Amino acid sequence: MDNLSVDHLTGIKDLTPRDIEIIFETADSFKEVINRPIKKVPSLRDITIANLFFENSTRTRLSFELAEKRLSADVVNFSAASSSVKKGETLVDTVNNILSMKVDMVVMRHPNPGAAKFLSERINARVVNAGDGTHEHPTQALLDSYSIREKLGSVAGKKVVIVGDILHSRVALSNIYALQKQGAEVMVCGPTTLIPKYIGELGVKVEHNLRKALEWCDVANMLRIQLERQDIKYFPSLREYSMLFGLNKELLDSLSKEIVVMHPGPINRGVEITSDVADSKQSIILNQVENGVAVRMAVIYLLASKIER
Ligand code: CP
Repeated sequence: MDNLSVDHLTGIKDLTPRDIEIIFETADSFKEVINRPIKKVPSLRDITIANLFFENSTRTRLSFELAEKRLSADVVNFSAASSSVKKGETLVDTVNNILSMKVDMVVMRHPNPGAAKFLSERINARVVNAGDGTHEHPTQALLDSYSIREKLGSVAGKKVVIVGDILHSRVALSNIYALQKQGAEVMVCGPTTLIPKYIGELGVKVEHNLRKALEWCDVANMLRIQLERQDIKYFPSLREYSMLFGLNKELLDSLSKEIVVMHPGPINRGVEITSDVADSKQSIILNQVENGVAVRMAVIYLLASKIER
Protein backbone atom coordinates (compact mmCIF):
# COMPACT_ATOMS: atom_id res chain seq x y z
CA MET A 1 0.00 0.00 0.00
CA ASP A 2 1.17 3.53 -0.77
CA ASN A 3 1.89 5.35 2.49
CA LEU A 4 2.80 8.83 3.66
CA SER A 5 6.35 10.20 3.34
CA VAL A 6 6.14 11.46 6.96
CA ASP A 7 5.99 9.66 10.34
CA HIS A 8 4.09 12.51 12.06
CA LEU A 9 1.66 15.17 10.82
CA THR A 10 3.09 18.37 12.25
CA GLY A 11 2.39 20.61 9.24
CA ILE A 12 1.24 20.63 5.61
CA LYS A 13 4.62 22.13 4.70
CA ASP A 14 6.20 18.67 5.19
CA LEU A 15 3.71 16.80 2.95
CA THR A 16 4.20 15.98 -0.73
CA PRO A 17 1.33 16.40 -3.22
CA ARG A 18 1.14 12.57 -3.35
CA ASP A 19 0.76 12.46 0.48
CA ILE A 20 -2.33 14.67 0.14
CA GLU A 21 -3.76 12.42 -2.61
CA ILE A 22 -3.18 9.32 -0.42
CA ILE A 23 -4.97 10.97 2.51
CA PHE A 24 -7.94 11.91 0.27
CA GLU A 25 -8.17 8.46 -1.34
CA THR A 26 -8.16 6.88 2.14
CA ALA A 27 -10.71 9.45 3.38
CA ASP A 28 -13.02 8.49 0.48
CA SER A 29 -13.22 4.93 1.86
CA PHE A 30 -13.80 6.16 5.41
CA LYS A 31 -16.50 8.59 4.27
CA GLU A 32 -18.36 5.59 2.90
CA VAL A 33 -17.89 3.82 6.27
CA ILE A 34 -19.26 6.70 8.36
CA ASN A 35 -22.39 6.84 6.22
CA ARG A 36 -23.22 3.17 6.96
CA PRO A 37 -25.64 2.21 9.75
CA ILE A 38 -22.64 0.74 11.65
CA LYS A 39 -20.09 3.54 11.38
CA LYS A 40 -17.12 1.61 12.69
CA VAL A 41 -14.20 -0.50 11.45
CA PRO A 42 -11.90 -2.65 13.64
CA SER A 43 -8.63 -1.35 12.05
CA LEU A 44 -7.02 0.18 15.18
CA ARG A 45 -8.26 -2.14 17.93
CA ASP A 46 -4.65 -2.49 19.20
CA ILE A 47 -3.84 1.25 19.20
CA THR A 48 -4.21 3.78 22.02
CA ILE A 49 -4.43 7.49 21.24
CA ALA A 50 -4.17 10.44 23.65
CA ASN A 51 -5.86 13.72 22.70
CA LEU A 52 -3.96 16.51 24.48
CA PHE A 53 -5.70 19.88 24.30
CA PHE A 54 -3.81 22.80 25.83
CA GLU A 55 -6.20 25.25 24.09
CA ASN A 56 -9.99 25.35 23.68
CA SER A 57 -11.62 23.42 20.85
CA THR A 58 -15.06 22.15 19.87
CA ARG A 59 -14.87 20.82 16.29
CA THR A 60 -11.30 19.55 16.17
CA ARG A 61 -11.42 17.76 19.49
CA LEU A 62 -14.77 16.06 18.85
CA SER A 63 -13.82 15.24 15.29
CA PHE A 64 -10.54 13.55 16.31
CA GLU A 65 -12.26 11.62 19.09
CA LEU A 66 -15.01 10.41 16.74
CA ALA A 67 -12.44 9.50 14.08
CA GLU A 68 -10.42 7.47 16.60
CA LYS A 69 -13.50 5.69 17.95
CA ARG A 70 -14.80 4.91 14.45
CA LEU A 71 -11.42 3.19 13.86
CA SER A 72 -11.88 1.24 17.16
CA ALA A 73 -8.81 2.78 18.84
CA ASP A 74 -8.71 3.20 22.63
CA VAL A 75 -8.93 6.92 23.39
CA VAL A 76 -7.89 9.04 26.37
CA ASN A 77 -8.57 12.76 26.59
CA PHE A 78 -6.51 15.36 28.41
CA SER A 79 -7.42 18.97 28.99
CA ALA A 80 -4.73 21.33 30.26
CA ALA A 81 -7.24 23.32 32.31
CA SER A 82 -7.80 20.36 34.67
CA SER A 83 -4.29 18.83 34.60
CA SER A 84 -0.98 19.01 36.49
CA VAL A 85 0.31 21.45 33.84
CA LYS A 86 -1.27 23.97 36.20
CA LYS A 87 1.23 22.78 38.86
CA GLY A 88 4.23 23.56 36.62
CA GLU A 89 4.86 20.23 34.84
CA THR A 90 6.68 20.62 31.48
CA LEU A 91 5.18 19.51 28.15
CA VAL A 92 7.71 16.69 27.64
CA ASP A 93 7.26 15.42 31.23
CA THR A 94 3.48 15.52 30.87
CA VAL A 95 3.55 13.62 27.59
CA ASN A 96 6.17 11.06 28.70
CA ASN A 97 4.04 10.27 31.75
CA ILE A 98 1.06 9.69 29.46
CA LEU A 99 3.18 7.56 27.09
CA SER A 100 4.40 5.34 29.94
CA MET A 101 0.76 4.20 30.10
CA LYS A 102 1.41 2.64 26.63
CA VAL A 103 0.00 5.30 24.33
CA ASP A 104 0.90 4.93 20.62
CA MET A 105 -0.20 8.27 19.19
CA VAL A 106 -0.64 11.82 20.47
CA VAL A 107 -3.02 14.38 18.95
CA MET A 108 -2.10 17.76 20.37
CA ARG A 109 -3.41 21.33 20.26
CA HIS A 110 -1.03 23.80 21.88
CA PRO A 111 -0.73 27.62 21.96
CA ASN A 112 2.98 27.62 21.02
CA PRO A 113 4.00 27.55 17.33
CA GLY A 114 6.27 24.53 16.75
CA ALA A 115 5.00 22.60 19.80
CA ALA A 116 3.95 19.54 17.76
CA LYS A 117 7.29 19.36 15.92
CA PHE A 118 9.16 19.81 19.23
CA LEU A 119 7.23 16.93 20.73
CA SER A 120 7.65 14.66 17.69
CA GLU A 121 11.44 14.98 18.03
CA ARG A 122 11.40 13.97 21.72
CA ILE A 123 8.86 11.20 22.23
CA ASN A 124 8.43 7.67 21.00
CA ALA A 125 4.93 8.01 19.54
CA ARG A 126 3.28 9.36 16.39
CA VAL A 127 2.29 13.02 16.73
CA VAL A 128 -0.61 14.79 14.97
CA ASN A 129 -0.79 18.57 15.19
CA ALA A 130 -4.35 19.71 16.01
CA GLY A 131 -3.27 23.40 15.84
CA ASP A 132 -0.06 24.97 17.20
CA GLY A 133 -0.58 28.63 18.00
CA THR A 134 -0.51 30.87 14.94
CA HIS A 135 1.56 28.33 12.96
CA GLU A 136 -0.31 25.39 11.34
CA HIS A 137 -3.60 23.47 11.59
CA PRO A 138 -2.90 20.72 9.05
CA THR A 139 -6.03 18.59 9.41
CA GLN A 140 -8.22 21.69 8.99
CA ALA A 141 -6.48 22.51 5.69
CA LEU A 142 -6.83 18.88 4.56
CA LEU A 143 -10.56 18.82 5.29
CA ASP A 144 -10.96 22.21 3.60
CA SER A 145 -9.28 20.98 0.40
CA TYR A 146 -11.16 17.68 0.58
CA SER A 147 -14.42 19.65 0.74
CA ILE A 148 -13.44 21.78 -2.28
CA ARG A 149 -12.53 18.59 -4.19
CA GLU A 150 -15.91 17.10 -3.26
CA LYS A 151 -17.87 20.22 -4.28
CA LEU A 152 -15.96 21.25 -7.42
CA GLY A 153 -14.44 17.94 -8.58
CA SER A 154 -10.83 18.98 -8.05
CA VAL A 155 -8.63 21.54 -6.32
CA ALA A 156 -6.16 21.96 -9.19
CA GLY A 157 -6.78 25.13 -11.18
CA LYS A 158 -9.29 26.57 -8.71
CA LYS A 159 -9.00 30.11 -7.37
CA VAL A 160 -9.35 30.34 -3.61
CA VAL A 161 -9.41 33.55 -1.57
CA ILE A 162 -8.76 33.41 2.19
CA VAL A 163 -10.37 36.43 3.82
CA GLY A 164 -9.73 38.04 7.20
CA ASP A 165 -7.22 37.68 9.99
CA ILE A 166 -4.36 36.08 8.05
CA LEU A 167 -1.76 37.34 10.54
CA HIS A 168 -2.99 35.24 13.46
CA SER A 169 -4.37 32.30 11.48
CA ARG A 170 -2.88 28.80 11.49
CA VAL A 171 -5.75 27.83 9.18
CA ALA A 172 -4.55 30.36 6.56
CA LEU A 173 -0.93 29.15 6.49
CA SER A 174 -1.88 25.45 6.31
CA ASN A 175 -4.46 26.21 3.60
CA ILE A 176 -1.94 28.17 1.53
CA TYR A 177 0.52 25.23 1.58
CA ALA A 178 -2.20 22.63 0.92
CA LEU A 179 -3.89 24.51 -1.93
CA GLN A 180 -0.63 25.36 -3.69
CA LYS A 181 0.62 21.76 -3.44
CA GLN A 182 -2.56 20.71 -5.27
CA GLY A 183 -2.21 23.35 -7.99
CA ALA A 184 -4.77 25.94 -6.84
CA GLU A 185 -4.21 29.70 -7.07
CA VAL A 186 -4.41 31.44 -3.69
CA MET A 187 -5.25 35.04 -2.77
CA VAL A 188 -5.46 36.58 0.70
CA CYS A 189 -7.77 39.51 1.45
CA GLY A 190 -8.05 41.66 4.56
CA PRO A 191 -6.93 44.90 6.18
CA THR A 192 -3.22 45.71 5.65
CA THR A 193 -2.65 45.31 9.38
CA LEU A 194 -3.86 41.70 9.33
CA ILE A 195 -1.82 40.57 6.29
CA PRO A 196 1.74 39.50 7.27
CA LYS A 197 4.58 41.31 5.45
CA TYR A 198 6.17 37.98 4.35
CA ILE A 199 3.00 36.78 2.60
CA GLY A 200 4.27 37.64 -0.93
CA GLU A 201 7.17 35.20 -0.41
CA LEU A 202 4.59 32.39 -0.20
CA GLY A 203 3.48 33.12 -3.78
CA VAL A 204 -0.05 34.28 -2.95
CA LYS A 205 -1.88 37.30 -4.39
CA VAL A 206 -2.91 40.08 -2.00
CA GLU A 207 -6.14 42.11 -2.37
CA HIS A 208 -7.57 44.61 0.08
CA ASN A 209 -10.91 45.07 -1.73
CA LEU A 210 -13.33 42.27 -0.82
CA ARG A 211 -15.57 42.69 -3.89
CA LYS A 212 -12.59 42.40 -6.27
CA ALA A 213 -11.36 39.32 -4.36
CA LEU A 214 -14.77 37.66 -4.57
CA GLU A 215 -15.12 38.44 -8.29
CA TRP A 216 -11.73 36.71 -8.84
CA CYS A 217 -12.34 33.53 -6.86
CA ASP A 218 -14.20 30.22 -7.16
CA VAL A 219 -14.09 29.67 -3.39
CA ALA A 220 -14.02 32.15 -0.47
CA ASN A 221 -12.75 30.86 2.88
CA MET A 222 -13.93 33.41 5.48
CA LEU A 223 -11.77 33.40 8.63
CA ARG A 224 -12.69 34.44 12.14
CA ILE A 225 -11.13 37.56 13.66
CA GLN A 226 -8.96 36.06 16.42
CA LEU A 227 -9.46 38.69 19.11
CA GLU A 228 -7.89 36.36 21.71
CA ARG A 229 -4.54 36.50 19.84
CA GLN A 230 -4.60 40.26 19.18
CA ASP A 231 -2.49 42.19 21.68
CA ILE A 232 -3.12 45.55 19.95
CA LYS A 233 -6.00 47.02 17.93
CA TYR A 234 -5.59 46.08 14.25
CA PHE A 235 -8.73 47.90 13.02
CA PRO A 236 -10.95 50.63 14.50
CA SER A 237 -14.05 48.53 15.29
CA LEU A 238 -15.74 45.21 14.50
CA ARG A 239 -18.52 47.20 12.81
CA GLU A 240 -16.05 48.81 10.41
CA TYR A 241 -14.33 45.45 9.80
CA SER A 242 -17.67 43.87 9.01
CA MET A 243 -18.62 46.65 6.59
CA LEU A 244 -15.33 46.31 4.65
CA PHE A 245 -14.48 42.60 4.95
CA GLY A 246 -17.67 40.84 6.06
CA LEU A 247 -19.59 38.74 3.53
CA ASN A 248 -23.33 39.45 3.40
CA LYS A 249 -26.06 38.08 1.12
CA GLU A 250 -26.42 41.28 -0.89
CA LEU A 251 -22.72 41.19 -1.82
CA LEU A 252 -22.79 37.42 -2.50
CA ASP A 253 -25.87 37.73 -4.76
CA SER A 254 -24.41 40.68 -6.67
CA LEU A 255 -21.36 38.73 -7.89
CA SER A 256 -21.17 37.79 -11.57
CA LYS A 257 -20.87 34.06 -10.74
CA GLU A 258 -21.85 31.66 -7.96
CA ILE A 259 -18.95 31.04 -5.58
CA VAL A 260 -18.50 28.45 -2.80
CA VAL A 261 -18.38 29.83 0.75
CA MET A 262 -16.34 28.17 3.49
CA HIS A 263 -15.53 28.88 7.13
CA PRO A 264 -13.40 26.78 9.50
CA GLY A 265 -15.49 27.75 12.53
CA PRO A 266 -16.17 28.93 15.10
CA ILE A 267 -18.21 31.59 13.24
CA ASN A 268 -18.75 35.09 14.55
CA ARG A 269 -22.11 35.56 12.86
CA GLY A 270 -22.56 39.15 11.70
CA VAL A 271 -18.81 39.89 11.76
CA GLU A 272 -16.93 37.94 9.03
CA ILE A 273 -20.11 36.37 7.62
CA THR A 274 -23.83 37.00 8.06
CA SER A 275 -26.23 34.25 9.13
CA ASP A 276 -28.02 34.13 5.78
CA VAL A 277 -24.69 33.52 3.99
CA ALA A 278 -23.53 30.92 6.54
CA ASP A 279 -26.81 29.04 6.09
CA SER A 280 -27.13 29.59 2.31
CA LYS A 281 -26.91 26.87 -0.35
CA GLN A 282 -23.53 28.26 -1.42
CA SER A 283 -22.08 27.54 2.04
CA ILE A 284 -20.32 24.19 2.61
CA ILE A 285 -19.51 24.90 6.27
CA LEU A 286 -21.27 21.81 7.66
CA ASN A 287 -19.84 19.62 4.87
CA GLN A 288 -16.39 20.74 6.07
CA VAL A 289 -17.24 19.53 9.59
CA GLU A 290 -18.62 16.22 8.28
CA ASN A 291 -15.55 15.65 6.09
CA GLY A 292 -13.28 16.40 9.05
CA VAL A 293 -14.07 13.02 10.59
CA ALA A 294 -13.24 11.04 7.42
CA VAL A 295 -10.06 13.04 6.78
CA ARG A 296 -8.87 12.60 10.39
CA MET A 297 -9.66 8.87 10.21
CA ALA A 298 -7.42 8.72 7.13
CA VAL A 299 -4.54 10.61 8.79
CA ILE A 300 -4.68 8.48 11.95
CA TYR A 301 -5.03 5.21 10.02
CA LEU A 302 -2.08 6.00 7.73
CA LEU A 303 0.22 7.11 10.58
CA ALA A 304 -0.82 4.13 12.72
CA SER A 305 0.19 1.76 9.92
CA LYS A 306 3.77 2.96 10.52
CA ILE A 307 3.72 1.86 14.17
CA GLU A 308 5.61 -1.40 14.80
CA ARG A 309 3.07 -3.90 16.18
N1 CP B 1 -11.87 24.89 13.20
C1 CP B 1 -11.43 24.65 14.46
O1 CP B 1 -10.22 24.38 14.71
O2 CP B 1 -12.38 24.74 15.42
P1 CP B 1 -12.18 24.45 16.97
O3 CP B 1 -11.28 25.52 17.51
O4 CP B 1 -13.56 24.45 17.59
O5 CP B 1 -11.50 23.10 17.10
